[in-house]
Amino acid sequence: MGITYFEKSKTFKLDTCNTTYMIKIVDDEGFILHLYYGRRLSDEKTDDLCRIEEHPFVPSKNNRDRGSFMDCAPFEYPGHGLGDYRDDAFSVLNPEGYSATSLNFRSYRILEGKPKLPGLPATFEKQASVSVINEDLKKEPAEKEIAGNKSTCCTLEIIGEDPANGLEITLSYSVFEDVDAIARSVRIKNIGKYENIKLTKVLSASYEFYGDDYDILFLHGTWARERNIDREHLGYGKHYVSSFRGESSHQEHPFLALMSRDANDTNGDVYGFSFVYSGNFIAQAERSQFDSVRVLMGINPVDFCWNLGKGEEFCTPEVISVYSWEGTGRMSRTFHDLYRNHLIRSPYKDMKRPILINNWEATYFNFDTDKLIAIAKEASKLGIELLVMDDGWFGHRDNDSSSLGDWYVNEKKLPGGLKRLADEVNKTGMKFGIWMEPEMISPDSDLYRAHPDWAIQIPGRTPVMSREQYVLDLTRKDVRDYTFSQIEKILKSANIEYLKWDMNRQLTDLGSALLGTEGQGELYHRYCLGVYELQERLVTEFTNLLLENCSGGGARFDPGMLYYSPQIWTSDDMDPVERLKIQEGTALIYPLSTMGAHVCDCPNHSTGRTTPFETRGYVALAGTFGYELDVTRIPEADRNMIPKQIKMYHKFNDLVRTGDYYRVSSYRENHEWDCWEVVSKDKSEALITVVNVIGRVNHKSRLLKLKGLDPDKVYSVNFYDMEKEAEGENCMKLRGDALMYAGIQLKGLDHGDFKAKLLSIKATS
Ligand code: GLA
Repeated sequence: MGITYFEKSKTFKLDTCNTTYMIKIVDDEGFILHLYYGRRLSDEKTDDLCRIEEHPFVPSKNNRDRGSFMDCAPFEYPGHGLGDYRDDAFSVLNPEGYSATSLNFRSYRILEGKPKLPGLPATFEKQASVSVINEDLKKEPAEKEIAGNKSTCCTLEIIGEDPANGLEITLSYSVFEDVDAIARSVRIKNIGKYENIKLTKVLSASYEFYGDDYDILFLHGTWARERNIDREHLGYGKHYVSSFRGESSHQEHPFLALMSRDANDTNGDVYGFSFVYSGNFIAQAERSQFDSVRVLMGINPVDFCWNLGKGEEFCTPEVISVYSWEGTGRMSRTFHDLYRNHLIRSPYKDMKRPILINNWEATYFNFDTDKLIAIAKEASKLGIELLVMDDGWFGHRDNDSSSLGDWYVNEKKLPGGLKRLADEVNKTGMKFGIWMEPEMISPDSDLYRAHPDWAIQIPGRTPVMSREQYVLDLTRKDVRDYTFSQIEKILKSANIEYLKWDMNRQLTDLGSALLGTEGQGELYHRYCLGVYELQERLVTEFTNLLLENCSGGGARFDPGMLYYSPQIWTSDDMDPVERLKIQEGTALIYPLSTMGAHVCDCPNHSTGRTTPFETRGYVALAGTFGYELDVTRIPEADRNMIPKQIKMYHKFNDLVRTGDYYRVSSYRENHEWDCWEVVSKDKSEALITVVNVIGRVNHKSRLLKLKGLDPDKVYSVNFYDMEKEAEGENCMKLRGDALMYAGIQLKGLDHGDFKAKLLSIKATS
């Protein structure tokens, strides 16, 4: 297992428990080519896979038609402008004005563990230290397997060169053997031919596929409708999603899946690619004239231009690839395990999160200490554990037109400040948390009046406003230091145990006062690095703080943010019907434990829809679970249900947070009903949520074919009865095989729309 180099065939074999990825060095020039990615192969004998060996135009055999080779070879990291007309992974502007790039193999290293990526979020193996265990193939000519038993992750670094540009290029592959995932990133170093060279495109990875007909799946959305699944046949040419909004965005998502045409949740080949980054990205698949497919992923080259001085190195964020031969379901479970165990660092990641109540949709800007204390008193009686005070507590912010950057308390609303409020809330037995939007500056703020040049803007242009605010220039150290000092001061001023970090507008007017004429092309990436630096400082200094990232709802729900916060606000739309699609798309990649989900007010503020309180609770149970309503004003019957929902959360959250997620039915596909299931890792229990969105006339039952159970175990099947806070009647005893292969008829679905049920399953033998 792990990583093996076969000297004779010049082949690298990267093995996880169930998958294999192979790379071959070809020709005297050392082209680095892709051989295979898919189910695990038992050896490296792949002669038939390697079409290149028989290719008449391999340069050393026939350099006269080098162009034909370049335009069809499956390059691991394709260069620019030298005959490969498919899209490339990297390009430059060198001091002589040339843009072409190439990559030729020089050496390799195999490391135990996984090196950190400087300044960037990244997956990690548990051990922090990395030691070199094999370096340079010339010194180690023998075929040698680096056994994976010391470590569950090892890293292959292929070191190549582009001599014409004086660049050393290192392709890094970290193999998570037990999770069936591979992390790839790239480092490019200026080794001195030029004093400075401009990198105009540096993607993180390229993948090649050959011969199959594929579908492509993206996640698409808008504000309040993030990450809806969008699948289509992959035709010829380029198909991509991207962001150059300065964040991963509501609209597109840094993810792509390539799927066999017959693939569904349970069957078929699926290759998932997820980008661990929160800024501009591109995720692209291109089907070539020869029916090969090239997948590219990385920082969006639009407006990207990085100066690489002599001796300097640029390191890309990483892409995670997961191969599943059992449809999107296995892919999702693999991403969930990888992100739960090897990406999220927060001490809360394995803990039940405090049930929170957030005042945003309860009061918007219209609140004061008395109002919040009234909510806290009522909420604590019902069993809610944390009060989060949202936007509007600072400066003179009574609407969204002012005060971002002025992080001092509005004493008119909160006399006695945060300390008094936090103390009062704590007296009710609840924890206290706040909202901040540290990356922003309102034109109407003392901060902007003192430092107009701290806003991102272009001299001579009136900057574009969005929600009446500008973005702080976090590429600047002085701005970052000041911003951090403000966050620090606030968090230390009272007993604040939770922070919602928001980011409510996207970037425009790309101009930084300090980056100079040559450096403006670095702004987007430096901004993202600035956000990461601030959040790193935050989680390092406030180790017990529960951080929830947010961006106008879910515009920065991405793996990069999960490195800092164990949960992210999924969407401003809490309507349970809309949430079915949003949460299905989000859970395609992200563990349920990361999805911020609240029981909302009614009628819902985004859709105007009226739904049962009970159903809102069942849908929120699939995430972190909390409330966002005025608990002092909701109907009595709903209020009375809260303690029961809270018992339900405490009963099932361990399972929801840690279990394996399966999709039984999708409202997105059938337009009638939704059903998902979480099964404990030992298959001893499962929780099934059914939402009957549209009631059916004269046909009330639904056939549920469960998944992921042990066919040989006998399970008791119960409706969860909130009234009795326990398993209800209708207890059935059935074997796992019957539950999965024959299914059960779910009877007793109530008359009407938007009705939901919870089924709890426990092994009895
Ligand atoms: C964003 C968030 C909301 C709320 C508001 C406050 O839209 O997603 O939850 O915090 O900002 O302005």
